[in-house]
Amino acid sequence: MSFYSLTTQGRYEQAYQLSADKPEVFWDAIARENFVWHKKWDQVLDADFAKGKFAWFTNAKLNITENCIDRHLEKKSNHTAIIFEPNNPKQPAEYISYKTLHEKVCSFANVLKAQGVQKGDRVVIYLPMIPELAYAVLACARIGAIHSVIFAGFSAGAVAARINDCEAKVVVTADGGYRGEKRIKLKPIIDEALRTCPSVQQVIVAQRTFDEVDFNAERDILLSDALKKVDHYCSPVSMDAEDPLFILYTSGSTGKPKGMLHTTAGYMVYAAFTFKNVFAYEPNDVYWCTADVGWITGHSYILYGPLANGATTLMFEGIPSYPDVGRFWSIVEKHKVNQFYTAPTAIRSLAKESVEYVQSYDLSSLKVLGTVGEPINDEAWQWYHHYIGRQQCPIMDTWWQTETGGIMISPLPGSKTILPTFATLPLPGVQPCILDAETKQELADNNVTGALCIKYPWPGMARSIWRDHQRFLDTYYNVFPGYYFTGDGAFRNADGLYRITGRIDDVIIVSGHNLGTAPIEDAIDEHELVAESAVVGYPHDIKGNALYGFVTIKNETTKTMDQLRQEINEQIARQIGPIAKLDKIQFVSGLPKTRSGKIMRRILRKIAQGNQYELGDISTLLNPECIPDIIQHRI
Ligand code: WT7
Repeated sequence: MSFYSLTTQGRYEQAYQLSADKPEVFWDAIARENFVWHKKWDQVLDADFAKGKFAWFTNAKLNITENCIDRHLEKKSNHTAIIFEPNNPKQPAEYISYKTLHEKVCSFANVLKAQGVQKGDRVVIYLPMIPELAYAVLACARIGAIHSVIFAGFSAGAVAARINDCEAKVVVTADGGYRGEKRIKLKPIIDEALRTCPSVQQVIVAQRTFDEVDFNAERDILLSDALKKVDHYCSPVSMDAEDPLFILYTSGSTGKPKGMLHTTAGYMVYAAFTFKNVFAYEPNDVYWCTADVGWITGHSYILYGPLANGATTLMFEGIPSYPDVGRFWSIVEKHKVNQFYTAPTAIRSLAKESVEYVQSYDLSSLKVLGTVGEPINDEAWQWYHHYIGRQQCPIMDTWWQTETGGIMISPLPGSKTILPTFATLPLPGVQPCILDAETKQELADNNVTGALCIKYPWPGMARSIWRDHQRFLDTYYNVFPGYYFTGDGAFRNADGLYRITGRIDDVIIVSGHNLGTAPIEDAIDEHELVAESAVVGYPHDIKGNALYGFVTIKNETTKTMDQLRQEINEQIARQIGPIAKLDKIQFVSGLPKTRSGKIMRRILRKIAQGNQYELGDISTLLNPECIPDIIQHRI
């Protein structure tokens, strides 16, 4: 009996049992029965925790776009693969069939080939949420080029750092894009970034806004011109199971972003299997994930997971508040969305608006709701359940990471146990555990809190950090030898259900975006008057966490505090992007440090969060005298 579709608690339990007892037998069957292969594998898993080396489906050959597109053509070539809902609700939606998708992806792949892109080359994609983004990603996969999508909200500095890290040969961008009332220019950001990116030979420019942009005739080509010169068919390159599929940058606790490397077969199997089950997707359902393709959620659950299942996936260009805060619900009604997947931060911001924005739409098509990105608080969960789910839709609180490739801990729609604020149970093939941070021992009992780790490999796991395997090992495999360390804390209740308590390292989740404190501090320190800075998170009603910066300045200045605050935030926006701007900036005379000179962010976090009476013993600090002053001037 196949375990690909687990619609009841009983089936989940059987599948989980098998996946725990015989993981390789479990994944062998899932992979064999549900995908097309040019050649099957010699070995399901080849793992070495000490070296951080993992290979799945060794020596198998395949192309992921054949699994996502070609194989659906025989029976459902006219079935809608992607519904594109534009920013402006007055413009018509686009319904892209599997046949059209095939043609568009092949043509785009031929454009890349015409630019000299070959298997293994890196292509950076910096596009708004338009169909060309999907075509570009899949076109890379078609010819074996490694895509690296950069979220179109990142600034030129952040883009340049990523392009240089992966040494991209080609960049795909657009003139600009629409977000609500705004017209965003994108090409000028690429032009600025490329001043310091010697690896880039060609820039392919899609047109969305048709605004005038500078054109460098030796380097830039218009996508529309290039498309005129190519065929509509491109044969899929046969990829090895472990050939790189993409690099996706995520923040770490040092300034340099981590280029998480995902490979082909394991990622595909995992994204497809988890999509099918977490959303209980049935043929003809319309599924919508509101994330951006620039994040892992968009990779796995707008594109690869749904398309591998022949699903209809909705891609939304705009924002939840345009033309008004009812937009999400109007789209659900318009396209009769069956599964809806969004972030707690979006739920919280919409929950503070009048419920009339919800109630004026017919949401009866909805069957399953999902959330991702950060812990969902009880209030937001209840609102989502009551108003959006009409108390009839199970909510999948899905815990996972850029590094895990796909959902790891989540209820399934057929689960017996759904508990607000709990991600609940691991999916089949996932073996989570909780470790004591001090003793590094596994806490086997229930009712325990500690470091969330995974003790057995799963197919979707990242394989490395691009050209920095040592950092990969140090971050994920050397902290608790023999385990994958997630960086999150978790509580396991008496029934064995998991609740994620948040990051236990220097990463802060703001509006569902993973921001390292280090790159923000680096940006602040670039300001000529800044001596030193420390950034911590504090709870925020809408964003989950907001950013609080403590800054020391070098010398006297005639600038006002507010002027300085503004300049610091401008610097952050330039270097990283507006999402990383600080909500509060406090100028202090000194930052608390350990004797070895390490900034004690733990103490600053307590102060920022208003828990200044719980600082504990500060007598071992190098400079305890700075604390009363910081507390007194807390914002
Ligand atoms: C971090 C990963 C996975 C796509 C979105 C973010 C936090 C994610 C949950 C959840 C509690 C969550 C964790 C994780 N997180 N989902 N359901 N409950 N926390 O991907 O940028 O790689 O961030 O997001 O802290 O480690 P990411």
